[in-house]
Amino acid sequence: MDAVFRAACLLLWASSSSQASCSRVQIRVRIPPHDQPARVARFVAHQCDWASMATISTHKPAVGQPFSNAFSVSDGPDGSGSGVPYMYLTRMEISVQDLEVNPQASLSMSLAQTDYCRQQGFDPQSPLCAHIILSGSVVQVNGTEAEFAKKALFSRHPEMIDWPSDHNWFFAKFNITQVWVLDYFGGVKTVTPDEYFQAAPHRKLG
Ligand SMILES: *[C@@H]1O[C@H](CO)[C@@H](O)[C@H](O)[C@H]1NC(C)=O
Ligand SMILES: *[C@@H]1O[C@H](CO)[C@@H](O)[C@H](O)[C@H]1NC(C)=O
Repeated sequence: MDAVFRAACLLLWASSSSQASCSRVQIRVRIPPHDQPARVARFVAHQCDWASMATISTHKPAVGQPFSNAFSVSDGPDGSGSGVPYMYLTRMEISVQDLEVNPQASLSMSLAQTDYCRQQGFDPQSPLCAHIILSGSVVQVNGTEAEFAKKALFSRHPEMIDWPSDHNWFFAKFNITQVWVLDYFGGVKTVTPDEYFQAAPHRKLG
């Protein structure tokens, strides 16, 4: 059975009651150990529903400067993350216009957007509140990969189904060239795309 977990489960696995169960399924998930940064990165990438994406701006008065903006992402339906952050984009969007000129970008995702850091009392800037930065570029996806992107995104962002069709939405992925992990003291750790995609994001505990 696929591990299925939701935000409600996150609340529980950090609590003292190790027997706590989620409302829908009885599976607990846990952040991987900090000495396994590739697994931590996969875990964070799967838990996060949105990312801040920095592009190189093409818009005055910030031309040539970093421009960071929030995007809904999904690397797969709950419990089956691929590691690839997928996005649903339109060329009408300001950051997407930057990407048309220069597809290079950086995505940042943090467990601060889950209940984990609050529950543990970790400030978002603390490395213990695990966060990752991805370097790479944004590329459109087609065919079977677009079908997967649709399933990944629409299952976790149901209102996307109703976004205005005249905006010509398309599916895209973040093409990762380097992963940076901040999940413990001692500075940033780097993970290659190969290490990242080979890592198992989570362990099933129950
Ligand atoms: C997907 O299709 C678009 C539009 O036809 C094309 O520009 C793009 O290169 C394709 N991407 C891939 C990865 O095949
Ligand atoms: C992803 O990025 C790598 C490294 O820049 C590049 O060689 C590759 O062509 C890119 N893949 C796609 C689908 O654009």
